[in-house]
Amino acid sequence: MEKKDLDWGSLGFEYRVTDKRYVSNYKDGAWDEGTLTSDDTITLSEDAGVLHYSQAVFEGLKAYTTQDGRTVCFRPDLNAERMVDSAKRLEMPPFPADRFIKAVEEVVKANEAWVPPFGSGASLYVRPVMFATGKVIGVKPADEYQFRIFVTPVGPYFKGGAKPIVVKISDFDRAAPHGTGNIKAGLNYAMSLHPLVIAHDEGFAENIFLDAKTRTKLEETGGANIILIDREGTLVTPKSDSILPSITKRSILYVAQETLGMKVVEREIPISELHEGKFVEGGLCGTAAVISPLGIINDHGKEIKFESGMEKMGPVLQKLYDTLTGMQSGAIEAPAGWIHEIK
Ligand code: PLP
Ligand code: COI
Repeated sequence: MEKKDLDWGSLGFEYRVTDKRYVSNYKDGAWDEGTLTSDDTITLSEDAGVLHYSQAVFEGLKAYTTQDGRTVCFRPDLNAERMVDSAKRLEMPPFPADRFIKAVEEVVKANEAWVPPFGSGASLYVRPVMFATGKVIGVKPADEYQFRIFVTPVGPYFKGGAKPIVVKISDFDRAAPHGTGNIKAGLNYAMSLHPLVIAHDEGFAENIFLDAKTRTKLEETGGANIILIDREGTLVTPKSDSILPSITKRSILYVAQETLGMKVVEREIPISELHEGKFVEGGLCGTAAVISPLGIINDHGKEIKFESGMEKMGPVLQKLYDTLTGMQSGAIEAPAGWIHEIK
């Protein structure tokens, strides 16, 4: 199979229309059998639930070409599970996890020419999305939905690739206690757009949100979890019920502990500990972000500078990055079940 003629190394994190996408519709209490289609557009009623009451959830995972030429996905079972959780929280009918994985296989296979070659630094981003197509005017869940998966080849999420970024502590909240911060719902991202535009206008790459209740503890950014390395070399990451349970973070914690023998702690992290200089390296982690190093966190004019500096990722995060991406691309053996081959 011949790959598309793209300049893989210079791709950003952008959408481009690829050949096929998977679509299944929910009606009369059941999902239909689903199909691959070339149509990248959707026709909706003006009264579709998604347009009014924001019943929309999504996922993000990646497909890679391994050194020996196989096409693989990273832990799609966890995306399938998380999407079920997201759907339930918004009173949407979950798309069955086994069908989710099969649909990922079908779409990636049908777009294999778009999976970036090994070593290009790019990957195929897979975006499952589900939304209410049924008509609602009073506030209630819709009774019809669409589940769709499309793919697009992507490069690094942040400009400059693995260069440390400068972020700010936001004045806005992302997620309320007992709210929807722990699911992947579009509404969480809508909330983050105004603060994101402000952050960008001020020259920052992203926002770090604090816990909405006390505004003293680290939560996450608009699109990634946070990992920190303390002076003893321990990996410390925020524990909170209002952040997204990142699959990348769960994988990093496992690799840190089991493969690299590091100490790992998930706990509440007061921002004061960062001002005290307890952490020498910091990073954002997620499917899109992979591990993106933090250079500086600006907390209302006070700069928290990581000792790893502004030139490159610190040594501990680099080791985690090399191990994780090595596993994702098949160069390093991953724990059983993590690498899902597309045949
Ligand atoms: N947090 C938020 C808000 C995200 O949007 C993402 C991206 O999916 C993550 C964390 C990272 O999650 P994952 O590693 O599962 O991609
Ligand atoms: C992902 O990492 O898959 C996300 O959905 C985050 C978003 C910022 C693109």
